Order: sequence, then structure tokens, then C-alpha cells
Amino acid sequence: VRRAGARDREAVTALWLALGEHHAALDPAFARRRDPAALAEAGELVRGELRDPDSALFVWDVEGRVRGLCVARVGRAPRIAVERERAEISDLYVEPEARRAGGGRALVEAALDWVRERGIERIVVRVAVGNREGQAFWRALGFGDFMDVLGRRL
Ligand SMILES: CC(C)(COP(=O)(O)OP(=O)(O)OC[C@H]1O[C@@H](n2cnc3c(N)ncnc32)[C@H](O)[C@@H]1OP(=O)(O)O)[C@@H](O)C(=O)NCCC(=O)NCCS
Repeated sequence: VRRAGARDREAVTALWLALGEHHAALDPAFARRRDPAALAEAGELVRGELRDPDSALFVWDVEGRVRGLCVARVGRAPRIAVERERAEISDLYVEPEARRAGGGRALVEAALDWVRERGIERIVVRVAVGNREGQAFWRALGFGDFMDVLGRRL
């Protein structure tokens, strides 16, 4: 596992789009556009992520091929909060053929090290209720219930 660089942009964009497909299959609320401009826009989002000092993008590189990605970012609360900074894992994906080989865990461990180095003591992740492997994965890594996000269709 290593920090992603500009040379990984294409591979990272492909994995990020695959993560979107995974979620769209769980619930159409997560669907992303598929028009020709969407791919270029996804590439721009990844480029911005790579430049953002409050965000760290890690890749699982297996013999030169990027098989997984993890994005961690830092969010800040107003001074009134005791915990002023909190990290979030916003994206995590491992290619289906490469799963259950420890890649997801290694990616998250690298992200946690990055968060700890910044002196931040809490990290959160939002997991779709229907995402069975995601739910099992995070709980296996010691994450537990923190917030319920309730939704309602209007
Ligand atoms: C979640 C995901 C990243 C896990 O990646 P991975 O490389 O397979 O994970 P690891 O091999 O490091 O698994 C670590 C542990 O998590 C648990 N785990 C992982 N996948 C699991 C599954 N499908 N069912 C039950 N437990 C699972 C196991 O305890 C596993 O340890 P073990 O293999 O020794 O039993 C991968 O399944 C994925 O990309 N899923 C689709 C995208 C997604 O759901 N992302 C998370 C969004 S919040």
C-alpha cells in the first residue's frame, strides 16, 4: 500500500467509478451519471483529491497493478466542540477478484496511520445498510455503530 500519485490517476478513477457501480446496485440513490462528460469529471475529482492537503489517497499496488483504493479526509468542527478534528474514510474499494486477501485491511491501516500522525483520535465511515461485505469488513476492523443516517424519499 502506498500514497497515490499523479501517475495513478487513471487507475484510481476506474476503481472509484467501480465503487460507484457497487453502490448504485445496492440503491439507485447512489447512481452516478454515465454521459460522456462524466468520465472526465470523475478524473478531475480524483485530481482534486490528490492535491487536497486534507485528504490522503492510498492505493494497493500489486506488482504494478492498482487493485484497491482508500480515501481518508479530515473534517473540522467549530471551536465549541471538544473534538475539533475528525477523520472520515470516504471511499474504499478493492477489485472483486482481489478480495479477501488483506488488501482492504492494509489500505485502512495505512489511512489510520496517516490520521494518527495528525493527532486525530476518531475516524468515521458511512456504510450503506445493504452493503453486506462493507458492514462485515468494518466491524471486523473494530468499527462500531456511531450515527444512524435516516433518509426519506420526497
Ligand atoms: C469491503 C472491501 C473493501 C473489503 O476488501 P478486502 O480486501 O476483501 O478485505 P480484507 O481481505 O482486508 O478483509 C479483512 C476482514 O474483513 C472481513 N470481511 C471482508 N470481506 C468480507 C465479506 N465479504 N464477508 C464477511 N467478512 C468480510 C473479514 O473478517 C476479513 O478477514 P478474513 O478474510 O481474514 O476473514 C471489499 O469487499 C470491497 O471493495 N467491497 C465493495 C466496496 C465497498 O463495500 N466498500 C466499502 C464502502 S463503505
